[in-house]
Amino acid sequence: MGYRNIVTNCALDGPSGAGKSTIARAVARRLGYIYVDTGALYRAIGLYVTRRGADTKSPAEVEPLLSEIGLKLEYSDGKQIVLLNGEDVSGLIRTNEISMAASNVSAIPKVREFLLELQRSIAASNNIVMDGRDIGTVILPNANVKIFMTASAEVRAKRRYDELVGKGEDVSYETVLREINQRDYNDTHRDIAPLKKADDAIELDTSDMGIEEVVNRVCEIIIEKTSADSHRKKTLSEVRLFFYGIVRLGVRLAMRTMVSLKYEGCENVPRKGPYIVASNHISWADPVYVSAGIRNISSYMAKESIFKNKLLSVLLRMLNAFPIKRGQSDRDALRTAMKYLNRGYSLTIFPEGTRSKDGKLGKGKSGVAFISHFAKCDVLPVGIKIDKQQGKRTRVTVRYGKPILYKEIRLGSSFSAAELRRSRDLIMSRIGELL
Ligand code: DC
Repeated sequence: MGYRNIVTNCALDGPSGAGKSTIARAVARRLGYIYVDTGALYRAIGLYVTRRGADTKSPAEVEPLLSEIGLKLEYSDGKQIVLLNGEDVSGLIRTNEISMAASNVSAIPKVREFLLELQRSIAASNNIVMDGRDIGTVILPNANVKIFMTASAEVRAKRRYDELVGKGEDVSYETVLREINQRDYNDTHRDIAPLKKADDAIELDTSDMGIEEVVNRVCEIIIEKTSADSHRKKTLSEVRLFFYGIVRLGVRLAMRTMVSLKYEGCENVPRKGPYIVASNHISWADPVYVSAGIRNISSYMAKESIFKNKLLSVLLRMLNAFPIKRGQSDRDALRTAMKYLNRGYSLTIFPEGTRSKDGKLGKGKSGVAFISHFAKCDVLPVGIKIDKQQGKRTRVTVRYGKPILYKEIRLGSSFSAAELRRSRDLIMSRIGELL
């Protein structure tokens, strides 16, 4: 797909009773991801419509009710809780009657539209395993991993029958099989987002597999796929670096005619990219000062306002600079950052966001920690000191610190703001030590 996701999204689709929820839950627990059971959302709507005495098959009766429905998913100890207008309905939606109601309402286009954004917003900022019918095809077409899980109707009916009997429900195997076949038919024949395998999904027939075996296989697939993503990270070619080296030397000589330039800690600079360069910010020339001591070619994250001038914007982009909107998380900027890092460039960021007026190091923003975590890239801290001396040339000292390993920065799978602040503070303190 077009871009590499910042988080890992695993789409797990398949027919009713294929064991998706059991597997997705276990896989999510093992990998520290969040398990999102999207069927529960359709079930909650099915429950609401049934309670209101409306026909779950009738768009005319169901659609007006949607505006009365508030749905929320919460997670506690890895368990998903479904809140329907604030009421926990997680248990109530698991009956046979509601299974059918869910299948019926799920064929109504307005219902699917109603649930689309909720599902996408959960996936956008979390590592997830999301199970459903149209996750790989419609909801998350860019998911990094797509699995289509099947099993024969008889095996699925037997599994569901055992589950229902275990819960004390009085049903016959034949009824369950009939309902499974009916739901299969409904789910694959509806006009909108019918159950079907995405072209790039891996098919997994679990008819003859035990639970543990399937969990292992799915974990394997996810790890293989996502580490293939990180292996995609390249380094820049020696030829490019050689020519860049000549330009860099020229720039350094030119700078020396204007300021007295001194580099320290050059042994700490990694020989090859990608890595993130995080520096304090005093002068407009800082990107040049920082880069002139580094062998790898860098990209630069810069505030949006300097791209306003068309001519300057063209020049900046030629120099691998790209804008970030301040004060909000900017997914385009993050994606561009990932793109450069995956190609082997470094990424230079001034985490203070703006130049320091009094020369003191500011608190810094969390972007560096965030990108380091997702791109699995180390951070090279840099301290720039500028001494303006009366009657003499300004003295600029650029000090490179020991790289902060991404493992030191790494955040949990659904990290909190406090965790992000801790990693940010670590980075800022390493920059501070160099000043
Ligand atoms: O996975 P489940 O059995 O809890 O799903 C209940 C119904 O909801 C199922 O019959 C089809 C529908 N569904 C859907 O259409 N799309 C999804 N992503 C998930 C469920």
